[in-house]
Amino acid sequence: MPARIIDGKGVAAALRTALAARTAAFTARHGRPPGLAVLLVGSDAASHVYVRNKRRACEEIGMASFAHDLPADTREADLLILIDRLNADPAVDGILLQLPLPDHIQPEVVLERIDPAKDVDGFHPYNIGRLAQRLPGLRPCTPRGIMRLLEHYEIPVRGQDAVVVGASNIVGRPVALELLLAGATVTICHRFTQDLKAHVERAQLLVVAVGKPGLIPGDWIAPGATVIDVGINRLPDGSLRGDVDFDAARQRAAWITPVPGGVGPMTIALLLENTLAAAHGRCT
Ligand code: GUN
Repeated sequence: MPARIIDGKGVAAALRTALAARTAAFTARHGRPPGLAVLLVGSDAASHVYVRNKRRACEEIGMASFAHDLPADTREADLLILIDRLNADPAVDGILLQLPLPDHIQPEVVLERIDPAKDVDGFHPYNIGRLAQRLPGLRPCTPRGIMRLLEHYEIPVRGQDAVVVGASNIVGRPVALELLLAGATVTICHRFTQDLKAHVERAQLLVVAVGKPGLIPGDWIAPGATVIDVGINRLPDGSLRGDVDFDAARQRAAWITPVPGGVGPMTIALLLENTLAAAHGRCT
């Protein structure tokens, strides 16, 4: 029997509906909507699409969206000045700086400048540290979205052999922490991993976040595994593909996320949830 499809689009839509009601309640109580500033530096085509979707999602559920589109040659010092201004702006609850940044800007420097209380991406070292210590805080959106999907479909995590392919700050490392906190035995594979196939073949729960279309052939998937594909790769014909060979993997897995319509919509929904949480956190 082919794998059951994990419908991230549907779960995210239901979450956004619930968040719209909670956003209206916040606005009625505080006399202003939760506000999210989304910063884009440069003209990376994929980033433009992601940022547009984030801003639109914000407005659709009644949040205020503050757009800051900066030229590719923006100086790091000027970006820091803007972040300082947004940190001090009472109408701004969340600050999202879209990655990647142009090469001349050091991401760790600017991300660390964001007020941790407004760090809705959960990338600030303070918030990552709190995640690592199982303390409450703002946590990265894509990993939270993946955990929410696993919870929604009651897919077991505790005691499972989980393999994460990709060790980025955005997905790989924080999702490995989330899975660890949820009781999985976690292996993280990366560019220096010697035998990727051997690790993937014994994964009961596989998360792939690399950004290489077809990196994981379907016949590597363990029968009955859960496959979470975070890759969003645009092919020359304009279509979107994940990092996993979906058609072949579907014949072996028990559960699988499609691309598009899997993890992507959850990232945006969890960004909205983090923004509302940040707004509440700042108003108590
Ligand atoms: N670039 C790719 N994914 C993300 C994300 O979740 N947040 C930000 N800020 N940039 C990204």
